[in-house]
Amino acid sequence: RIPVWLDCDVGHDDAMALILGAYHPDIRLLGVSSVSGNAPVEKTTENAIRVIQAAGIAGVKVYKGAAKPLVKQVRHHTKVHGASGLDGTDLLPRADYEQYFCADTNAVNAMYAAIMGSSGPVALVAVGPLTNVGLLLSVYPEVATRIRTLAIMGGIVNMGSNMPSSEFNISSDPEAAHIVFGAGIEHVALVPLNVTLTVLASHTIIERINSAVPNPRFAKLITDLLGFSASTHAHALGKDAGAPLHDPVAMAYLVMRGAFTEKHVRVDVDCVNGKLQCDMQSAQGLPANCWVATSVESSRFWTAMMDAYAQASAR
Ligand code: BDR
Ligand code: CA
Repeated sequence: RIPVWLDCDVGHDDAMALILGAYHPDIRLLGVSSVSGNAPVEKTTENAIRVIQAAGIAGVKVYKGAAKPLVKQVRHHTKVHGASGLDGTDLLPRADYEQYFCADTNAVNAMYAAIMGSSGPVALVAVGPLTNVGLLLSVYPEVATRIRTLAIMGGIVNMGSNMPSSEFNISSDPEAAHIVFGAGIEHVALVPLNVTLTVLASHTIIERINSAVPNPRFAKLITDLLGFSASTHAHALGKDAGAPLHDPVAMAYLVMRGAFTEKHVRVDVDCVNGKLQCDMQSAQGLPANCWVATSVESSRFWTAMMDAYAQASAR
């Protein structure tokens, strides 16, 4: 099993990444770090703990990370995730900090210890603003060679006319992204918004969840969260489009790379505008530093996600 660390700003889709990471048979989840993003870091920390409890995830602790981006003003994705970062359900338990939170250290030091303490290279999945990961690579640059894959959900590539002009994770902390893409990690994979927007929890998916998940309370929790997310995306994606599952697609990359098409290209960060510059045609002739996903077979993703829901509900 691949040892994996998840850095996230839980968030509806982050919650799904956490559940997939905890229950996929090929992943061993080492720990979870929180970052300011969808909501303030106190909230994203609390949300991570509540999801761990609700999904019966054992042996995984949450470590608190950065409260604000490296340079940019702090901002949150309240329109999409609500004030708590995880609005839309009353089925989440109260956070049990004693059992699931580690107050003795911070996210950066915890990631460092997990990566250096592992017998083999560790994969890192980053699905929030890249502040914690940027700090980790600045303070401890030696971790770069111990990371087997860094899978990032962020950015938009090949913007179509109906695509938003920027993506939350990258635009929230482009300076951190700049550090991350320049850190010399051998396998950086980017799963951008234009790809994750093709993985939508449609009505049919919701029906599948209701029949695949034996515990009705857990099924309701998941469909509450997906329903809230679908409602906040309705005006952008269409009334019946469903909820986009951005973050777990980056987690899935680690275990089903064959379900993706990708291109090895040069990615730089435009810090002024908070955007990635992905040289998809290799026009600049600069060395490639990132595998950029260009599509994903969503049916394979959903099979794994359904399995993870079913396992979590059995706990
Ligand atoms: C990203 O922004 C957040 O709202 C989601 O959790 C995801 O990580 C998508 O742009
Ligand atoms: Ca996120």
